Amino acid sequence: MDLAIEVKDLSYSYPDGFLALDRVSLKVILNERVAILGPNGAGKSTLLMLISGLLKPSKGSIHILGRPIDENIHKIRSEIGIVFQDPDDQLFCPTLWEDVTFGPLNMGLSEDEVVKRGKEALRMVGLDGYEERAPHHLSAGEKKKAAIATVLVMKPKILILDEPTANLDPKGKKELVKIIDNLHKNQKITLIIATHDMDFIPLIADRAYILNKRIIAEGNLEDIFSDSDMMMKAGLDLPTVTRLFEFINEFMGSDKVKPIPLTIEQALQEIKRLLKNPQ
Ligand SMILES: Nc1ncnc2c1ncn2[C@@H]1O[C@H](COP(=O)(O)OP(=O)(O)OP(=O)(O)O)[C@@H](O)[C@H]1O
Ligand SMILES: [Mg+2]
Repeated sequence: MDLAIEVKDLSYSYPDGFLALDRVSLKVILNERVAILGPNGAGKSTLLMLISGLLKPSKGSIHILGRPIDENIHKIRSEIGIVFQDPDDQLFCPTLWEDVTFGPLNMGLSEDEVVKRGKEALRMVGLDGYEERAPHHLSAGEKKKAAIATVLVMKPKILILDEPTANLDPKGKKELVKIIDNLHKNQKITLIIATHDMDFIPLIADRAYILNKRIIAEGNLEDIFSDSDMMMKAGLDLPTVTRLFEFINEFMGSDKVKPIPLTIEQALQEIKRLLKNPQ
């Protein structure tokens, strides 16, 4: 069981003394898809920036692919790709094409390879044809897709997404699920996603940590979403269909539907089953 990420007893205080993370420990196995769920201000973005080596721990340690992050920061930066919560932090060139090819050019790749990768990344997020556009003239959703492209183009082993669905419309979300599925299955990418989008999480993650300055809970999604009291206390909601099936179970006076559905597809299976066996 090779670890992609191991965080031990990690605490982080911002320069003004505010303690954002308190003794956080977590592990992510290679090729795993892990969600970090927590309310506003829980420390999700802070944790992701620490894991990407953009902030330095106040206490504790971080290992990436078996190596301590502080001693191998340059190598690790090429293995981890982070899509920031705010795309304006990621896009800084006059044109989208320059932004997308910035990383590969700095890696010293051949011009052919840079062009191939740049085109492929823009195609993956549905922004081919937008090469000459100024990033600040893109819509909010297009900016998010552009930021994702600037990271995918680097072919990272570990992909970190901070609120990836913010500003994406339903089609954009579906495309993102497809991209992630494809990277996970075909390129064995390891994925960490921070989000509040509970309906999105079951489509792209297997396991979750609940964070609120500290780790409150950890487990596979079925277990995490079965504990609605814990989720409520953490200031979080359940996926919409999961909440609906909680009411159905309550109404029927039993745990009739178990495991509780997390996605529409799972819910449809259960509804078909319930209609066939009404008692
Ligand atoms: N530069 C900073 N200086 C001081 N405090 C900060 C700084 N940046 C963030 N914080 C604080 O640290 C805490 C964690 O912030 P963080 O952005 O990691 O939360 P988050 O879980 O990503 O929230 P959101 O869901 O709103 O994105 C917040 O209370 C925030 O106000
Ligand atoms: Mg955040």
